[in-house]
Parts: sequence; C-alpha cells; structure tokens
Amino acid sequence: MLKEIQIVLCFFFVFVFAILYELSLQFGFVFSCTPITKRFLTQEDVMSQSRSIIFVETTDRLEPPPLVSCSVESAARIYHDRPVVFFMKGLNNSTWLDSNSTYAAFSLLSAMKNVFIFPLQMETLFQETPLVTWYHKVNATQEKHWVHISSDASRLALIWKYGGIYMDTDVISIRPIPVANFLASQASQFSSNGIFGFPHHHWFIWDCMKDFVQNYNGYIWGNQGPFLMTRRLRALCNLTNFHNVEDQSCQNISFLHPQRFFPIPYPAWRQYYEVWDTNPDFSDSYALHLWNFMNKEHKSVVAGSNTLAENLYKTFCPTTYKDLIQGTEGSGHMQQNKTE
Ligand SMILES: *[C@@H]1O[C@H](CO)[C@@H](O)[C@H](O)[C@H]1NC(C)=O
Ligand SMILES: *[C@@H]1O[C@H](CO)[C@@H](O)[C@H](O)[C@H]1NC(C)=O
Ligand SMILES: *[C@@H]1O[C@H](CO)[C@@H](O)[C@H](O)[C@H]1NC(C)=O
Ligand SMILES: *[C@@H]1O[C@H](CO)[C@@H](O)[C@H](O)[C@H]1NC(C)=O
Ligand SMILES: *[C@@H]1O[C@H](CO)[C@@H](O)[C@H](O)[C@H]1NC(C)=O
Ligand SMILES: *[C@@H]1O[C@H](CO)[C@@H](O)[C@H](O)[C@H]1NC(C)=O
Repeated sequence: MLKEIQIVLCFFFVFVFAILYELSLQFGFVFSCTPITKRFLTQEDVMSQSRSIIFVETTDRLEPPPLVSCSVESAARIYHDRPVVFFMKGLNNSTWLDSNSTYAAFSLLSAMKNVFIFPLQMETLFQETPLVTWYHKVNATQEKHWVHISSDASRLALIWKYGGIYMDTDVISIRPIPVANFLASQASQFSSNGIFGFPHHHWFIWDCMKDFVQNYNGYIWGNQGPFLMTRRLRALCNLTNFHNVEDQSCQNISFLHPQRFFPIPYPAWRQYYEVWDTNPDFSDSYALHLWNFMNKEHKSVVAGSNTLAENLYKTFCPTTYKDLIQGTEGSGHMQQNKTE
C-alpha cells in the first residue's frame, strides 16, 4: 500500500514538474531569473510571440565586429523584456557557442539574458514561403550581391514566420519603437528595409515575398530590398511628403518619419565619426542607422576620440565599449568590414 502511494506521489510530482517546465518555456525569457533556462529554449519557444527583435548575419563570419555587437547589445538593453535574436549563417546547426567562447563579442552577447544566437538555415527558413522556388533556382556563387540579397530574403521570411522587429546590424537602439506595424522612411516617399516591424503572417510581408520572386533582378542592388518595400507601399497608398516630424499611415501600416531612424542622412554618414561641439538632438528618434554600407574606409570607434559614435557606444552599449573598444586599446583597433 505504501509503495502504491509512493508511486502515485511520484507521478504527481512528475506531472507538476512538467507543467512548471512548460510554463517556464512559455514565459521563460520574461520571468527567468537564471540564464540556465535559456539553454533549453528552442527557436520556436523564443520567437512564438511576435515580440522578437531580429538581427541577421549572412556572411560566414562568427566574430561580430564592435558595431554589430553594439547594435545587438543596445537592442537587448532598450527591449530588456523581449527576446533579441541574432541569426548567424556561420553557425552550424548544432553549434551553440556559449560564454566560454573565445570570441569576445560573441561571448558578451550570449551572456546577456535576453539575447539568443541561432544558426541561419535558409533552406529551412524559406520552406512554405514564396521564396523557396527562387532559392532553389538561384546559383549563389554567380550572384554579385549575394550577401545582401540573401539577407533581404531572410529578413522577410523571419518576420513572416515569427513576427517582431527586424533591424540591420548597424542600427543603435536608443528608445523603444512604440508601434508594431511599421516601415521606416529613409527619405520622402522612399522606404528602407533596414528596420521594419510586423506581426507574424502579415499579408504585407507575404506580398513582398511574392514581389521578390516575380520581379527578381540580382544585378540591381536594392531591387529586392528598399526598392521592393517602396514599390509595395506605393501600390497600397498615395504617399505624400512628410510635414514636420509627423509619421504617415497607410492601411494600418505606420510609415515612420526619416527622423525616427535616419536623423543623419546617408550622404552625411561621416558625422557619426566626427567630434561635435554640442550633442545633436535625437529626441525624435528611436534608433540610429549608422550607414555602415557607406563606410568603405573602415572608420571605427577609437577610445578617447570623443566622436559622436564613441559617445553613443558609451551610453547605449557600455559592455561593448568596455570589452571591445577600451579592451583592445594599444593592440590596434578592430576593422569594421560589415556589409550593411
Ligand atoms: C561547421 O561545419 C564544418 C564542416 O562540417 C566545419 O569545417 C566547421 O568548422 C564548422 N563550424 C563551426 C563553427 O563549428
Ligand atoms: C545538421 O548537420 C548535420 C551534419 O552536417 C546533418 O546531418 C543534419 O541533418 C543537420 N540538421 C539540420 C536540422 O539541418
Ligand atoms: C570551456 O572550454 C574548455 C576548454 O576548451 C573546456 O574544457 C570546458 O569544458 C568548456 N566549458 C563549458 C562549460 O563548455
Ligand atoms: C553555380 O555556378 C558555379 C560557378 O559558375 C558552377 O561551377 C556551378 O556548377 C553552378 N552550380 C549549379 C548548381 O548550377
Ligand atoms: C491615389 O490617387 C489617385 C489620384 O488622386 C487615385 O485615383 C487613387 O485611387 C489613389 N490610390 C490609392 C491607393 O489611394
Ligand atoms: C486597421 O485596424 C483596425 C483595428 O485593428 C481594423 O478594425 C481595421 O479594419 C484595419 N484597417 C485596415 C485597412 O486594415
């Protein structure tokens, strides 16, 4: 009799434990007090609530340069109650580099409790989207802009499948974006694809993926990127020029004013690496796009230089600043060869 009671109790505890475990999976990243839970979470667990902030690396590089690290760290700080997910093509499927990693940036990011680093597996990602036919037809080695094009495709598929906010890895977050469905205007009547947000399975993203395949032209840089977003948006609404700092709205999609992410427009990108007499006013911005694509001369943040970028690092990604900028002083600064 005693033995039977023991068995019943035993089952009861297993049952309770299973329920608690299930709950911790669903709410793990919100309520977790131990980073240990992070290791047991699958991609689906982490991303199931359309709340993720998503970054993508489509080169095989495994060590994020300082700007990429700053971008992810700043998002993890601003969106401290949401998962920040970094997809890297260079990670093998079963590889999970932990804080033991010898890569400084990799290890500081994986140590943050709401940062998740997963392998980017395009073959799997494009399944059940219009992109799969294109992906099977295209020969990556013959594509001139493959790193960019595969990134353009991956970000659409990720937001379609999981929802959330996509950001380029040269964007520094400075305050939360208050809307969920949005495109970022880069100039009047022109949309960027460097930052956008939608809930999962949103029709606009599906239409973008169909347009991507139908009008594919790998020779024109941006044809599957900003030009694609812009032509889909123009097909929906008559865009007007912006007035003051007011956002526009098109069929429930906010079209955010250029000041929100691009207060320094791309021809002036060098200003981020200059010393300012008075700090610029970014009070109308949610995040700052540093235009790393323009940075062919590999300008980088140098400790003690007092440039705008250095001050942004100190404020919005202090761990990156401490470990990767101050930590490497005297040993020659790291090259930024980011592709965005
Ligand atoms: C990924 O797999 C390849 C081939 O199996 C191997 O050469 C490479 O070192 C692996 N990369 C990592 C980061 O484990
Ligand atoms: C992961 O990689 C291994 C070895 O390369 C392969 O056998 C396996 O199918 C891969 N798994 C997935 C989910 O791609
Ligand atoms: C960390 O790396 C060392 C040396 O490669 C290894 O012996 C150790 O098991 C690793 N620790 C963990 C927690 O993976
Ligand atoms: C892709 O292009 C490369 C280089 O032109 C060629 O060697 C390879 O056979 C092509 N692959 C396919 C699957 O057609
Ligand atoms: C755009 O404006 C034109 C002319 O005013 C109008 O005919 C058309 O229906 C508008 N399109 C949309 C999507 O509102
Ligand atoms: C916009 O959103 C509201 C509330 O979510 C909904 O009732 C309305 O139908 C939507 N309009 C369009 C054009 O999608």
